[in-house]
Amino acid sequence: MNEHMEIKGRLAKLCGEPEDDLSLGRFSMAIFGGAGDLAQRKLLPALYLLYLKGRIGGDFTLVGLGHPQLTDGTYRELAAKAIKEFLPGSFDEKKCGEFVSHLGYLSGDMNDAELYAALSRKLSGCAGGGGAATNIVLYLAVPPDVLEAIILNLGRSGLCAGALAGKIIVEKPFGADRDSAARLNALLRSSFSEDRIYRIDHYLGKDTVQNMLYFRFGNSIFEPLWNRRYIDHVQITVAEEIGIEHRGRFYEQAGVVRDIIQNHMMQLLALTAMEPPVGFDADRIRDEKVKVLRTVRPAPPDGGPSAVFGQYGPGAVGGAQAKGYRQEDRVSPASDSPTYFCGKFFLDSWRWSGVPFYLRSGKRLAGRRTSVYVQFKAAPLQIFGGSCEALEPNALLFDIQPREKISLLLNVKQPGVSRRLSSVDMELDYEDSFGARRHSPYERLLIDCVRGDLTLFAREDEIDTTWGIVDPLIRAWRDGPGPAFPNYAAGSQGPAEAALLMERDGRRWLDL
Ligand code: BG6
Repeated sequence: MNEHMEIKGRLAKLCGEPEDDLSLGRFSMAIFGGAGDLAQRKLLPALYLLYLKGRIGGDFTLVGLGHPQLTDGTYRELAAKAIKEFLPGSFDEKKCGEFVSHLGYLSGDMNDAELYAALSRKLSGCAGGGGAATNIVLYLAVPPDVLEAIILNLGRSGLCAGALAGKIIVEKPFGADRDSAARLNALLRSSFSEDRIYRIDHYLGKDTVQNMLYFRFGNSIFEPLWNRRYIDHVQITVAEEIGIEHRGRFYEQAGVVRDIIQNHMMQLLALTAMEPPVGFDADRIRDEKVKVLRTVRPAPPDGGPSAVFGQYGPGAVGGAQAKGYRQEDRVSPASDSPTYFCGKFFLDSWRWSGVPFYLRSGKRLAGRRTSVYVQFKAAPLQIFGGSCEALEPNALLFDIQPREKISLLLNVKQPGVSRRLSSVDMELDYEDSFGARRHSPYERLLIDCVRGDLTLFAREDEIDTTWGIVDPLIRAWRDGPGPAFPNYAAGSQGPAEAALLMERDGRRWLDL
């Protein structure tokens, strides 16, 4: 029996319960921005994968809506082309043909009431629409500046209440600051009840992100150590090699704080630091996330010395020359939009008092790495005198991507007669151990929304609290003098000030 089979065997023994049946019954989905970038790259491929895996049967309808003048036929062609391009390994002409036969399209102006009337007509006559089996999902995959018009029109259209009442999925960024997020929430709540609002953050659909909860609360041995007595510091990294790609217009307004820190990063922080929930349902988990996020100490008005902003200049990434941010399409040549942020945060709670949480995220860095690194305090005495090296502290490293791994860093004696110590990794690699094939986080989130499970979606108070944390940073950036940009080369580890922030504390960032 090889190692992988042993793990599976043990799992099967422990979990006698059958796996949840995740296949979906009748439903309809309307995607606003159905021909847009997100729909083509992520949503249509994820839905196709669900179809391939048999999670979606024949009883569904998908309507794309948008400005481009497409017919049902040309939309199907566009969808098939996108699936082929973004899922080359899973493309099957026949299956894809079957899948796209469920697709339809409505082109029109998002401000035009007739578009919504046409959508109601289309949905009431198809799978999931009308009668007892109503299960309609309205997915807003559109830029933030059109959200308001769509929600207002949905409110007037009968797609929020009555026989065709739908659930609504809203993409990030949810608002541009705390006030605008509050206005957006109020607008949504005027037409949809909270249990029909799905504020999506695709990070929560990633297995390894969810695994933070399973790891922490499914094992008893780490939780007693998970506090200020044993933990020296925590580093959370969302580093990307890619630049802003074709999203210059969006990124000029968003910058890294709105794009990553307010949402993906805050979710990772909450899952790492939250208290054990009293149950595994949506509200119990979200209650604990909000509680811990409320303990994050606000940054001082000037951002303080513990925040570093950066913007990439030209450089070499993976052997190829890359443009600087200011040379990207639809970016001002004098732009001050930050593409890098790192900062030191404290959580004012009994558990975490005094433990720094270092967060960093950036585009065009030396490597792609999303990870949570938890470093424990060093052993109190160096009793292995003469072994010349200092002891490496123990650490737990959750690698979320590109490789999904959990490693425990330990010190052991080197074999042989010497008294030397070695630092070693005990590593669980998901793909090697479970033979798990990667899947898109959107698969999981779309299943949950269709089935009505809100656990992996953000609640109104969560959004409000995370904006409360990042608003002072955005203001400090906007109002302060800031460093001269660009201040790091594409393909580097980030700005020199970021390394200094750690060095001042006698620590260092994990290499990218
Ligand atoms: C998106 C951001 O939410 O997440 C992008 O808008 C970023 O800028 C992306 O590249 C990263 O997602 P992932 O799943 O590739 O880590």
